[in-house]
Amino acid sequence: MKLSDDEKGMLEGKKGPVVSEAIDYLVQLGEAFGAEELVDIVYCHYPAEMGIYDGNVEDGVNYSEKKVKVRVPTTSSTLCCDLEKPENTGIPKQLAELQARIEAAHRSMGILETYTCTPQLLGFIPPFGSYNALVESSAIVYYNSVFGARTNRGGLFTRYSAVTGKYPLMGYLLDENRKGTHLFKVNISKERLQNYDVWCALGFYIGNIVGSDVPVIDIPIKNLNQDWLLGLGSTLATAGSVTLFHIPGVTPEARTLEEAFHGNIPKDYCEVTDKDIDSVYNKLTNIEIGDKIDFVNLGCPHYTLEQIRYMAEKLDGKRIADDVRCWICTNRMTRKQAEYSGYIGKIEKTGAKVIADTCPVESHLRISTCKEFGLKTPNVDAMVCNSGKMLRYVGDLIGCKTALTNLDKCIESAISGRFEG
Ligand code: F3S
Repeated sequence: MKLSDDEKGMLEGKKGPVVSEAIDYLVQLGEAFGAEELVDIVYCHYPAEMGIYDGNVEDGVNYSEKKVKVRVPTTSSTLCCDLEKPENTGIPKQLAELQARIEAAHRSMGILETYTCTPQLLGFIPPFGSYNALVESSAIVYYNSVFGARTNRGGLFTRYSAVTGKYPLMGYLLDENRKGTHLFKVNISKERLQNYDVWCALGFYIGNIVGSDVPVIDIPIKNLNQDWLLGLGSTLATAGSVTLFHIPGVTPEARTLEEAFHGNIPKDYCEVTDKDIDSVYNKLTNIEIGDKIDFVNLGCPHYTLEQIRYMAEKLDGKRIADDVRCWICTNRMTRKQAEYSGYIGKIEKTGAKVIADTCPVESHLRISTCKEFGLKTPNVDAMVCNSGKMLRYVGDLIGCKTALTNLDKCIESAISGRFEG
């Protein structure tokens, strides 16, 4: 691989042994995938170092003790508990204390303690065409597709990118890998497309078909909002492993259909109808209408301030059923702002909780963690949710029954304690 003088210096240890080791790993990664050079990155979203994974926090703390600092603005992904209010999720004290050790470690390295899957909502928006290194599939697909900021699924190598400011020029950083592969023509009414959960179902359906390819999604409406794109991207990335999608006339690398395909012919063409969307609801729902439920989750991916404001308005004067946990997940900065604006007080008066830093599938509610800490397993019986990504994971990781529905029905279910359809 061709290296600049600066990169050679790093490799030779001029910036210390930790940086030398990190750039060596990146060179090895690049060589394995045929990259010819390293490039400068402008932003990193750092891997979650979570208490629910054996040795993960200790590893993060040990790395920070090497006294290395990040070289580009670096945010951090979700944790396994709400560090400011651990009682909010009922996490065992021992696990919360273990998780809390990561904060000082990250701070000492210069990593920003954002602890979220949606750093873009906090203003971390790199320029179009820039190179970045991120973890968290729903953030990655959004940065690539909606911002046109280039990143691969960084995985553990993100750590090495953060301390060197480098990444091999490969994968989705290259023009040739950013062209569309499949064309999906969405034949769903504009009215139906006004619901967040429908975008999740759409992403789920397409993700299952394309796997890791690049879908081009032709949609009958063009004025899409941020929430819908978040829902679509998060499910494309989890039902498949989509890292980039294009919507002609909406996303920046697809001003036209031709541009989305770089002038090539699509590998495949598929029409998406109401029946296809219904099939996703059927797949993700195994709770009957009227059945008792004990969990309603909102905020996957983590909610924006506007979504929290809306929830405060919708829940005003209502009461969540006694035996239902209703979590609204967000990041800690947004919760602070929402507290300032009075939304948290209004929401918590109803019995719902605004959770920061985590979400159900990243928390101690996982079957494996329940077992380890002697908690009742499974800790959740039936979850109602408007996110396809959350429901894709909870069945396996939490082992509960699930139902995908719209926000209004989620709220009604939380209040009645029964699945409202
Ligand atoms: Fe975020 Fe958890 Fe969903 S990490 S994207 S809220 S599964």
